[in-house]
Amino acid sequence: MKRKKIDLIVGARPNFMKIAPILKEFEKRNYSDSSTRLVHTGQHYDANMSDIFFKDLSLPKPQVYLGVGSGTQATQTANVMIKYEKLLSKEPVDLVIVVGDVNSTLACALVAVKFQIPIAHIEAGLRSDDWSMPEEINRILTDRISTYLFTTSKEGSDNLLKEGISRKRIHFVGNVMIDSLIEYLPIAMKSSIIEKLHVKKNSFALLTLHRPSNVDDKSVLSGIMSAVNEVSSMLPVVFPAHPRTVSAIGELQRSGDFSASDNLHIIDPVGYIDSLCLQHSAKFVLTDSGGMQEETTVLGVPCLTIRANTERPVTVTKGTNIMVGSDPQKIISESVKLIKGYAKKGSIPEKWDGKSARKIVDIIRREMHG
Ligand code: UD1
Repeated sequence: MKRKKIDLIVGARPNFMKIAPILKEFEKRNYSDSSTRLVHTGQHYDANMSDIFFKDLSLPKPQVYLGVGSGTQATQTANVMIKYEKLLSKEPVDLVIVVGDVNSTLACALVAVKFQIPIAHIEAGLRSDDWSMPEEINRILTDRISTYLFTTSKEGSDNLLKEGISRKRIHFVGNVMIDSLIEYLPIAMKSSIIEKLHVKKNSFALLTLHRPSNVDDKSVLSGIMSAVNEVSSMLPVVFPAHPRTVSAIGELQRSGDFSASDNLHIIDPVGYIDSLCLQHSAKFVLTDSGGMQEETTVLGVPCLTIRANTERPVTVTKGTNIMVGSDPQKIISESVKLIKGYAKKGSIPEKWDGKSARKIVDIIRREMHG
């Protein structure tokens, strides 16, 4: 039997903790009839946006590094496509596994489908119905051209069925990111980040912010940051800041539109282990991240999402997530409720149990080898 080759694609920070459990599952089973290749597009390249995740998640060095770096939407997507097409034309594979919704996900999927290579999309079917987000476009197009669609919730599967995707291609397997969380939480609880930052468990809020809609518009960002300053007068706020946010805040500071209060600790982006530790230890989380809405739900930590919509509604209906948008008054009033102890109690969504990668590999094996 011909040995089947499988590419696993990572590009940006939220990809690493999703690919890790799948790659490890393949490695654990050590099949003689298939082999994997880890491809890093280089969309994220800073040590604290990429390298540290390889260390924290014990990921092997990628076999291929495309080194695309930053750029506009089209430049970045096109650069990944050009480099990945060259790779596949020299060294083709039998399946391409992509995760999530970043530009690298769509770019590699587009290249694969034109080589008529089947694509497995992990975290398929999420929909915010907000076409102003590049991620929504990436999700919809990647799903449309994927052969195997692995969903994290029944709502995700329903979204795909509504779009006319055949039921046979849809597999509700749960959430691979939660596989990583369950594996690494015991290690994260031993992290010393809390002591290093001189904050106490349950006595600080954690903030992350990087969506273009929140950080690229000066008035939106200054509204959010003034609300955060106000929250920090009641509870210290720890803010690991994304590179694009650091530069946007720098501009606000230079123009005199923002000055961080003493209780707002703006720090460099943190790795996976410290991020889990901070989320687990925070009184509540303020974020516009997709993944953290899900992680806080599993950790049972209240989450206020600084967005108007979410592609992860199960975190609101079942979990601890509340959508607050970017209105400063709403951010402050919902934070005050949490500081006073009025927190929503959530439950863990179906199949977010640490066994998703196992199910995905079983299904891929069945489909590829019969
Ligand atoms: C990307 C994803 C987003 C994801 C986020 C996680 C897309 C469309 N967006 O957004 O879904 O939530 O990653 O972080 O794919 N930069 C650095 N160093 C790096 C990476 C980026 O300095 O290692 C800076 C660059 O100036 C770059 C900017 O951050 O222009 C934005 O990076 P980019 O990869 O384009 O998008 P993200 O905002 O990170």
